Amino acid sequence: MSVSSSSPSAFAEQRVVVMGGSSGIGEAAAATFAADGAEVVVTGRSQDKLDAAVARIGGKTTGHRMDATDQGAVDAFFAQSGTIDHLVVAVSGAAGAGPFAQLDLDDLAAGFDAKFWAQIRIVKAALGHLRPDGSVTLITAASARAAFPGTAGLAALNGALEAMVPPLAAELAPLRINAVSPGVIDTPWWDHVPAEQRQAMFDGLAAATPVGRVGRPEEVARAIHMLAANGFITGVVLDCTGGANLPTGR
Ligand SMILES: NC(=O)c1ccc[n+]([C@@H]2O[C@H](COP(=O)([O-])OP(=O)(O)OC[C@H]3O[C@@H](n4cnc5c(N)ncnc54)[C@H](OP(=O)(O)O)[C@@H]3O)[C@@H](O)[C@H]2O)c1
Repeated sequence: MSVSSSSPSAFAEQRVVVMGGSSGIGEAAAATFAADGAEVVVTGRSQDKLDAAVARIGGKTTGHRMDATDQGAVDAFFAQSGTIDHLVVAVSGAAGAGPFAQLDLDDLAAGFDAKFWAQIRIVKAALGHLRPDGSVTLITAASARAAFPGTAGLAALNGALEAMVPPLAAELAPLRINAVSPGVIDTPWWDHVPAEQRQAMFDGLAAATPVGRVGRPEEVARAIHMLAANGFITGVVLDCTGGANLPTGR
């Protein structure tokens, strides 16, 4: 994966863990840190995806197979992780989307398990294994503070995560806690939508987005990299949406 580096040694001697780093936004973020000299660990459930991602990312990158919904697996990961300078949490499932009237509450609960509880479980388990003035970056979603029909469930679980960012930043300081909130990004997350339908959907979403297109994982990766690198930013949720969530009056 080619992602330009800010400096080939900006993250030298630093350990960065990207939970959900075997695909999409997490993989692109891992590539930015690896390009800057970090020792990067990417996690995910599929060994095949991890092996392929590690080969694409290159540098000092390793993979660790782990299910973030499994408390024992998360604890076991941190028990052997050593001190982590920067943690990025990009795990999620696709459950919890759809029109509210048809929304199955068990499906919404599965969405919370796969993203809200998984991300919170990881941050809690990581405490004590993070450099005291290191950073945590969560990945939320534009749905948290927009009004896109069909996203009430996703708004709830991403909004719950975003609400925790400022109080956690105050409580856990000097550890820095931030989030990046992406708009629609062309990643394998959308593979559950058939290819021809997906392109038509992306075209429609692009037309409704001020920058006129959907986003690329590398663009979200640069926002994540900036938050980890800038020691004076904490408690922030940074939008990376192409303007999709702006109140344009349309
Ligand atoms: N793509 C978008 O349009 C978009 C928009 C807004 C927000 N986001 C958010 O951005 C984050 C990254 O999404 P993405 O688009 O990059 O998705 P993606 O390409 O599907 O990547 C998800 C990553 O998380 C891993 N993962 C998923 N569930 C896991 C679990 N239970 N335990 C461990 N690893 C797990 C996946 O690997 P395995 O499948 O092998 O476990 C993969 O590495 C998510 O939080 C998503 O909600 C995405």
